[in-house]
Amino acid sequence: DKGPYPHFMLKEIHEQPESLARLLREVIDIESGALKDIVPTVDFRGADRIVMVACGTAHYATHVAKYWIERFARIPVEIEIASEFRYRPRVHGKHEIAIFVSQSGETADTLAALKDVQGHVTKTLAVVNVPTSTMARDADAVLTIEAGPEIGVASTKAFTGQMLALLALALKAGCDRGVVAPEMLSALVDDLVTLPRLVSETLALSGDIDQIARNLVQSEHVLFLGRGIQYPIACEAALKFKEITYVHADGYAAGELKHGPIALVDDAMPVVVFDGADALTEKTASNAAEVVARGARMVRIGASVEVCVAGVRTPASSEVVEPFVNAVVLQLLAYQAALAKGTNVDQPRNLAKSVTVE
Ligand code: F6R
Repeated sequence: DKGPYPHFMLKEIHEQPESLARLLREVIDIESGALKDIVPTVDFRGADRIVMVACGTAHYATHVAKYWIERFARIPVEIEIASEFRYRPRVHGKHEIAIFVSQSGETADTLAALKDVQGHVTKTLAVVNVPTSTMARDADAVLTIEAGPEIGVASTKAFTGQMLALLALALKAGCDRGVVAPEMLSALVDDLVTLPRLVSETLALSGDIDQIARNLVQSEHVLFLGRGIQYPIACEAALKFKEITYVHADGYAAGELKHGPIALVDDAMPVVVFDGADALTEKTASNAAEVVARGARMVRIGASVEVCVAGVRTPASSEVVEPFVNAVVLQLLAYQAALAKGTNVDQPRNLAKSVTVE
């Protein structure tokens, strides 16, 4: 049931304040601010490596989480798309934890990758939305993202749920390993408690986003850029955009632009830049200046975007919350662009909700 919404995708985008609040309550004791023992059988203390395997949007969630796990738990992280991972002669770590991320828990390549590593890694952990899925059954441990059924083919609330579940794991691992001190955890929990509200505030920016979406969809190509944790956000933006608007879009690390893709930039190429409120802001701004100098129509997304610039000024949030805020912007951007173009939002051509064949 779509309720008052014209599409499942829009309904699911709007469910995020609620789905994230639900997951927050599963992973944190909000009263005391303590992290719950979310995966009691997984011991991060002796882990020397974490590998995360997934496809599509779930892969970008692991890419975001790589920054968090390395930062908060100080464990080296490898991320890979399942269809490549399974056919690569891999050298396993001695104490390696393998995490498989999938909304459906049925994606063929991810499932096969899970089966392949069994016996070669210390622990397998499935992060899924469907608790009764094959992946949940096959892995040693399971963490569910509590997003509720996702019907729209383009993944939205599962993406933010995957990010939050993996962030909770990063913090759990960081606490267990003594990297995250109690004061740091309580500051991060304070930030996380603001997440549902900030996601709601971002949903209210839909009018600003609509204008930009209508413009972007006039073009044949769109380039999405970000640095650091905004880089996988840019990649997810490009995936969502091409998936439902059929406009060619590419996500790039902003610093990599001058190593090739800048050759594409002219006044017919809109460039969307995700500005993070982190140490890389200045560098992203200088990459943005390079594309403007080549005549690109630039759109900026971030909390410090000036009102006079074409862009979306997002609510000020903390570093861990910002990827969620930007995720909502990219989802609305793709959705509204698809509406303007008149494509089938919930059932894009050639796509299936769950890819159960290789
Ligand atoms: C994109 C999308 C796909 C899925 C991918 C993995 O919007 O929905 O890229 O993310 O097929 O699916 P799951 O998460 O079910 O393994």
